[in-house]
Order: sequence, then C-alpha cells, then structure tokens
Amino acid sequence: MVCIMSGTRSKLALFLCGCYVVALGAHTGEECVARHHEAESYVAAVYEHPSILSPNPLALTSRQQALELMNQNLDIYEQQVMTAAQKGVQIMVFPEDGIHGFNFTRTSIYPFLDFMPSPQVVRWNPCLEPHRFNDTEVLQRLSCMAIKGDMFLVANLGTKQPCHINDPGCPDDGRYQFNTDVVFSSNGTLVDRYRKHNLYFEAAFDVPLQVDHTTFDTPFAGRFGVFTCFDILFFSPAVRLLRDYEVKHVVYPTAWMNQLPLLAAIEIQKAFAVAFGVNVLAANVHHPVLGMTGSGIHTPLKSFWYHDMENPNGRLIIAQVAKNPVGLIDAENATGEMDPSHSKCVHFIEEGAKGWKESLCRRLKTESQQQSEPGIPTPRPMHTTPWISLDVANLIVSNESWKSLQQRSQTACKRRHGRMCVIRPSNILRVLMEDRPRPKDRSYQERGFNSI
Ligand SMILES: *[C@@H]1O[C@H](CO)[C@@H](O)[C@H](O)[C@H]1NC(C)=O
Ligand SMILES: *[C@@H]1O[C@H](CO)[C@@H](O)[C@H](O)[C@H]1NC(C)=O
Ligand SMILES: *[C@@H]1O[C@H](CO)[C@@H](O)[C@H](O)[C@H]1NC(C)=O
Ligand SMILES: *[C@@H]1O[C@H](CO)[C@@H](O)[C@H](O)[C@H]1NC(C)=O
Ligand SMILES: *[C@@H]1O[C@H](CO)[C@@H](O)[C@H](O)[C@H]1NC(C)=O
Repeated sequence: MVCIMSGTRSKLALFLCGCYVVALGAHTGEECVARHHEAESYVAAVYEHPSILSPNPLALTSRQQALELMNQNLDIYEQQVMTAAQKGVQIMVFPEDGIHGFNFTRTSIYPFLDFMPSPQVVRWNPCLEPHRFNDTEVLQRLSCMAIKGDMFLVANLGTKQPCHINDPGCPDDGRYQFNTDVVFSSNGTLVDRYRKHNLYFEAAFDVPLQVDHTTFDTPFAGRFGVFTCFDILFFSPAVRLLRDYEVKHVVYPTAWMNQLPLLAAIEIQKAFAVAFGVNVLAANVHHPVLGMTGSGIHTPLKSFWYHDMENPNGRLIIAQVAKNPVGLIDAENATGEMDPSHSKCVHFIEEGAKGWKESLCRRLKTESQQQSEPGIPTPRPMHTTPWISLDVANLIVSNESWKSLQQRSQTACKRRHGRMCVIRPSNILRVLMEDRPRPKDRSYQERGFNSI
C-alpha cells in the first residue's frame, strides 16, 4: 500500500500502453560491463514498475481473475529480468505492490494472496516443486524468474497464513494477511521473507506479532537486510538491522508517494545510505499521477537514480556497487579537523544514536564534500521535480541548508497548495533514531509528517 499520501488526491490512471521502454539508468555509464572478475563489486538492478492496477480494487474477484491481472505484471517482470540478466545482474529488486496493486480491503485482496510457508521451517523451491503447496502461483513464477535470470530476486506480494482461533492474535476470519517481501536465490530457492511491520493505512494487511529482522547472505556481496517502504522512517526493523545484524546492503521495495519538503523518495533513500554507510537498492512503483516515482541504487557516496513525473514509463536501473560500502574508517582519515557543523550534529543526535554518532557525523561531512562528484544527482526545478537536493543527512549538519530549504519549500508549497506549510526540521531523524514503538497514525500526523 501507498506510503505517503499526497495532499491532493488524483484520479487513478492506468498506463496500459503496450510499450514498456526499457532504458538503462541514465547515470550508470559503462559501469555495468565487466563485473564477475571484479571481486570488490557486484552488479545490482532495481526496476521502477508502472504496475497494471485493478480498475476497482474494492470489487470482489476470483482467484482466476486476480491471477490474470498479476500475470500481466509478472510478464513485465520477466522481461526485465531477462534484460538485466544480459547485463550480468546478480541481484534485482522489484517494488512494493508491483504485482497486485493497492487500495484493497481485507476481503477484496484475498484472491490476490499467495500461501506462504515459513522459509525458516520449510526449504522450498517453488519453481521446481510447484505442487507442494496450493495457491502459490506468484511465488512459482518469481522463483522460475530467479532461475532463468540466474540472479537473486527480491519482490513484494500479498501472502496469507491460516491461524488457529486459540492464537490470541488470530483475526476473526482465521487468517493472517501480510504485505510480504520475498527473496529467491539464483537457483530459485525461497531463502527468506519479510512481513512489513510499519503499515501505512493498509487495511488489507496485518502487522506480524513479532518484528521480522530479515537478512540473507549472498555469495557475491555478503549480507543484505530487507524492509519495506514506510519502515524506513522507524527504528525497528530498519536501524536495528544495521546495528545488530551487520548488514551492509539493504533491499527496499517501496510504493512511495512523494511529498514535500522532506518525504521525497530519492531524498529519503539516499539519506539512509549516506547516514548509515550502506548500499540501498530501492525500487518504487511508477505512477506519476499519484506522485509515485523515485527509485535508485544508492551507495554512501553515489546515487544511480530515476525520478520522472512526466514520463509514463518505468525504468530499469543497473549499477555496479562496492561489496563493502566505503568504510567509516576511510572516511575518518579522509576528513580534516572538525568544522562547526560537526558539534551541532553531535548534539542533535546525542539522544538517539550514541554508539555511532561520531562516525555518522564524519560520514556526513565526507558526503557533503563529495557533492560535485559525477553521479550525485543535481537539483532540478521544483515544479518538475519535487525532490530537494539537500538530503536529510545534510539538513542536520547545516543550519544554512535548512533555512534555504525551508524557503524553497515554502515557495513550492504555496505554488502547489496555495498556502504555507508547517515544516519541522527534526521530525524524520528524530523518529528514525528513537527506539520506541511507532506512534499511532494520528499523533504521527500531529507531529508534522503530513503537514503540507
Ligand atoms: C485509493 O482509495 C482512496 C479512497 O479510499 C482514493 O481516494 C484514492 O484515489 C484511491 N487511490 C487509488 C490509486 O486507487
Ligand atoms: C490443493 O487443493 C486441492 C483441491 O482443493 C486438494 O485436493 C489438495 O489436497 C491440495 N493440496 C495441498 C498440498 O494442500
Ligand atoms: C540454492 O541456493 C541456496 C541459497 O543460496 C543454497 O543454500 C542451496 O544450496 C542451493 N541449492 C542448490 C541445489 O544449489
Ligand atoms: C587511519 O589513521 C589511523 C591513525 O593514523 C591509522 O592507524 C589507520 O590505519 C588509518 N586507517 C586507514 C584506513 O587508513
Ligand atoms: C540557525 O541559525 C539561526 C540564526 O541564523 C539561529 O537563531 C538558530 O538557533 C540556528 N539553529 C540551529 C539549529 O542551530
């Protein structure tokens, strides 16, 4: 389901044009050619998908009808996998809601759900063992794609899990319904799943009783962590994965509506990579009419990204990324002495991020020195790109940036909404750093998240 609701509600548009132009990320250059030989890096892909949506997600359909719709999206996935495979891609990420869509009710989504056994309990290759479980058609197709493309594949789907009435969390209809990311290894084995914890107004889904801290190991780049969309703004599981599980790469399916000034997709993804020193492989759906665009492969120093509010087409982004994102040690020696913004930064994150605040601040400084390097996105006019080039990380180190951002956002807001915005600088980082339960949606909004 959609993460960030925009202030204006636009009519749903379907992009049913037969031509899904496959274009490689404009910023990738020749970097994705020679790869297997370079042990220090791997080749990743994310696909921003203009998903084919159900014309009426509230209507009740049959499993057969649901599969027909989902297979149209899966056909496109498969084409993208084959294109990526030719470029030597080793891991590929697809967006949240990309197969089934969004805006369902608990009942209307049911025909779209696959049954999902726990990968911790059952070792299963859906492509090679299709008859082992019923209602697993989507998992089977994804598993077969991983085999065909000879790559790790990460995708998002709705899953169902029957529960017993004695289970205190069991919903009245006798099943859990989860917004689920799945990970297949290159031989099609279902290696893990992540069930979204921080749901964003998703009536169709349940929050799992325990938070999944999902990681998976790859032969080419070590350990990856998984979380979804809105999760990126909360301590658990996102920050905990990095702190406790030694994750160096994050795969991040999302269905994100951009919202000024601080909740633009690219901005958040990039800020997360910079602030935590990890690689983030982020795949969004592409529905400009709904404000949904913005995917990228983000390293702490560089971003390969796609954001287009005018083009109806999706985009396959391929990039070569370091196995070990530039370490904090390197950043440490590369930076000179402290500048005034450093102490401000330390002060700001004192409460939340004790263990690594020093490293974080150094990294932020290093990043800001890298601004002019090719590959770092450059700002575009606000009316075409509601993305602010100053990322969240930079915001907290620079009062000047904050002030100019505020001015620019005010102008943009007035143009868009005809009124002033309430902007509170520290909300995002404060929430991210806090290790406590997510506030109820209402108080969350009161704290300024949906303030424009
Ligand atoms: C989702 O549903 C809400 C109302 O429930 C509606 O305003 C919105 O336009 C819908 N969005 C899509 C993409 O169908
Ligand atoms: C799948 O469903 C069919 C028909 O309902 C049933 O006969 C079969 O036992 C089921 N198989 C499994 C593995 O549950
Ligand atoms: C398939 O991949 C999984 C995960 O990488 C691995 O554990 C397993 O051994 C592989 N199976 C075969 C038959 O290669
Ligand atoms: C950074 O500097 C320290 C102290 O001078 C040194 O011990 C360390 O090896 C250096 N690290 C790197 C990665 O150069
Ligand atoms: C930012 O600068 C203004 C004056 O230029 C000052 O009043 C304010 O306290 C500063 N904010 C922070 C967070 O340092």
